[in-house]
Amino acid sequence: MLKQLEELKLKALQELGSISNIRELESWRIHYLGKKSELTKVLRSLPQLPLTERKAVGAYANEAKAYLEDNLGQKRQALHEAKLIARAKRETIDITLPGRPFPTGRLHPITQTLYEICDIFLSMGFQVVEGPEVEWDYYNFEALNIPKEHPARDTMSTSWIDFQTDSGERSMLLRTHTTSVSARIIETMPPPIRVIEPGKVYRYEASDVTHVPAFHQIDGQVVDRGITMADLKGTLYEFARRFFGEDRKVRFRCDYFPFVEPGVEIAIECLVCGGTGCRLCSNSGWIEILGAGMTHPQVLQRGGIDPEVYTGFAFGIGIDRLPMLRYGIDDVRLFYSSDLRFLRQF
Ligand code: DAH
Repeated sequence: MLKQLEELKLKALQELGSISNIRELESWRIHYLGKKSELTKVLRSLPQLPLTERKAVGAYANEAKAYLEDNLGQKRQALHEAKLIARAKRETIDITLPGRPFPTGRLHPITQTLYEICDIFLSMGFQVVEGPEVEWDYYNFEALNIPKEHPARDTMSTSWIDFQTDSGERSMLLRTHTTSVSARIIETMPPPIRVIEPGKVYRYEASDVTHVPAFHQIDGQVVDRGITMADLKGTLYEFARRFFGEDRKVRFRCDYFPFVEPGVEIAIECLVCGGTGCRLCSNSGWIEILGAGMTHPQVLQRGGIDPEVYTGFAFGIGIDRLPMLRYGIDDVRLFYSSDLRFLRQF
């Protein structure tokens, strides 16, 4: 019996030596150390052996089992390491290779313009605020001196939201201008106020080369003691000078907006023809860039600010037109076409 065990042990060791992968190792384990292996059978049959033999066979078999298990462990470790080394050899890393370029996007030309405008006003002490794009009729119209039957409503083709208040009014809409944020600010912020209000606005209009149903505006609002038309003019001249350049001529003219009194319109000398007249400026030599005015006393009063103590000025700039003028783009829809060939130019 002992001899038999010894032969078994030697055979097992010999086979173990020639094993070169984990799968073979597992079959070896099952064969020599598994539940149905020769060795296990011997160990199980020990109780049936005569006592004298039992002791010696038992000791030898247990020792052989421990010895084989030990060898199995070592072999397993060796195979594992060999595998790691082989993999490392295959995967040599060339640290001198340049990295893969990381694809980065860029800011949309309208966003770039918006940031640029914000920077100019921030440097003059303004603060950026935002308001909701889905707005109440009150802030978009009523609070700005545009009551229900006012003709100014016709100039802003409104996208109404299908929502009825308890009183049955259809009073929610997609804001038609960022001036709605001014109405909110007057109500909530105590003077001195010096804010700019950028964002998307919506008008129910068909798109063409100069119109899209969703575009961008930035409104501004200043309220303090002693604010005059001179502040309005100084601020907006400075903006035009910084955005369009020192030499660009700026024109002030009277205009009408229900929420300001007096109202003005600011135009710059046409960037294409330099003032001589061309298709872009409809032969006038001027391009209108913003509307502005002294905040109407009623608008202040409605927001809880005493117009006898405080005065203010406001302005509204259409953002989409500015990069069009600057880069000579003749179709506003290009900005919203998601065509990378166009967008990558900026
Ligand atoms: N909200 C006006 C529009 O969309 C533009 C505007 C004009 C804004 C005069 C103002 C302003 O704040 O004072 O046509």
